[in-house]
Amino acid sequence: MITLPQKRRRLAQGLVFLLVQALLFLVSVGQATAAKWDLSLPSLANTYKDDFMIGNVMNPNQTTDDELTAMFKHQYNLVTAENDMKPQYLSSAKGVYNFANADTLVNWAKAKNIKVHGHTLVWHSQSAPWLTTGEDGKPLTRTAAKANMEEYIHKVAGHFKGKVISWDVVNEAFDGGTGIPTDWKSVLRKNSPWYIAYENGADKKKGESGADYIYDAFVFARLADPGATLYYNDYNETDAWKREAMALMAEDLNAQWKKDQRNADPNRLLVEALGMQAHYWTANLNVNDVEATITRFIKAGVKVGVTELDIPYGSYSKQHTTPLTKEEERFQARLYAQLFKVYKKYANSIDRVTFWGKADSQSWRGQGSPVLFDRTFAAKQAFDAVIDPEGFLEAN
Ligand code: G3I
Repeated sequence: MITLPQKRRRLAQGLVFLLVQALLFLVSVGQATAAKWDLSLPSLANTYKDDFMIGNVMNPNQTTDDELTAMFKHQYNLVTAENDMKPQYLSSAKGVYNFANADTLVNWAKAKNIKVHGHTLVWHSQSAPWLTTGEDGKPLTRTAAKANMEEYIHKVAGHFKGKVISWDVVNEAFDGGTGIPTDWKSVLRKNSPWYIAYENGADKKKGESGADYIYDAFVFARLADPGATLYYNDYNETDAWKREAMALMAEDLNAQWKKDQRNADPNRLLVEALGMQAHYWTANLNVNDVEATITRFIKAGVKVGVTELDIPYGSYSKQHTTPLTKEEERFQARLYAQLFKVYKKYANSIDRVTFWGKADSQSWRGQGSPVLFDRTFAAKQAFDAVIDPEGFLEAN
């Protein structure tokens, strides 16, 4: 039973909550209208033109923003669709494909001479349920899932053939490891709908397992668009177990491909690059771990891509929610500088560094102020740190 004073208190709490939300909204609107990109800043893409490409994400509805477009063209030479090339958005049902939004982005990029990275063909998340799951909600058989995968990749990678330079063929397939694995298959995400369907009907005596979906995805992608560089992409790639699992997988699949009759070019790898998503946190980023991952991937014989870089302030368990002080910004910037020193050292093996967010206000982890530009689109200290890592570290 709620008493009258309790009711009044709840009403008052509700009103305060609404007031705070309204204020936050007004502040963000105010910031958005005041925000302006500064085109007189040095260009990231130009600064690193002899090292690697510099990318960022876009959403199709941003392509009509001329100011943002001018900034993007000035700072970046590679774009990833933040969401619109994921299966969930491209194919709602078997035989149904909607390329309209993704095409808007790809055409925008082409007109501006910005290269496109495809993200992503096969993922347990933001997928299209028909690929792996029956109408009864039960997993498809291995044979049916494989046929769907072939059809999907043929259709999608075929559609974007010649328009994307690379694909994240498989995204985030590993999960739950701790110790250093000797068998990459043992640390796969076993509850991925792809893994589950491929297990359904696997002939264990022949060595088949749910893991086989990964090789198939790469082969279908190679056959559909031989011009695209094929990536495996994952997060927490600086964890020792995952770094090893990713490297072992690339080595294993590439060895398998060498003997595959469909391989028309024996000198070319199947898994050509490993994507380090690089979703870090200021509280626990250790640049030595980043370097150890890069060198392990190089040892596996592949290229490295930094595919989704951001460094929100704080840690996953203790997230930061207020704007950064100058000192916090400096701390974050020093980490960006240290990272770019490492990237430059291995530039021969790194083909791109893509940021996951253009401004703090547009990032999936915006509260932690993770990227190079703030909520008013002004360059942060992190921008200076990326433009001149050595100089920034010396001065700071
Ligand atoms: O478009 C709908 C909108 O219609 C709806 O009203 C709204 C309500 O929640 O949702 C909108 O969709 C959201 C979508 O982003 C587009 O804004 C989804 O809820 C939201 O979950 C989705 O988040 C994306 C996330 O992937 C999903 O997994 C983030 O924007 C995107 O930055 C993030 O990117 C991933 C990479 O693909 C893979 N690596 C990790 C990275 C960060 O999570």
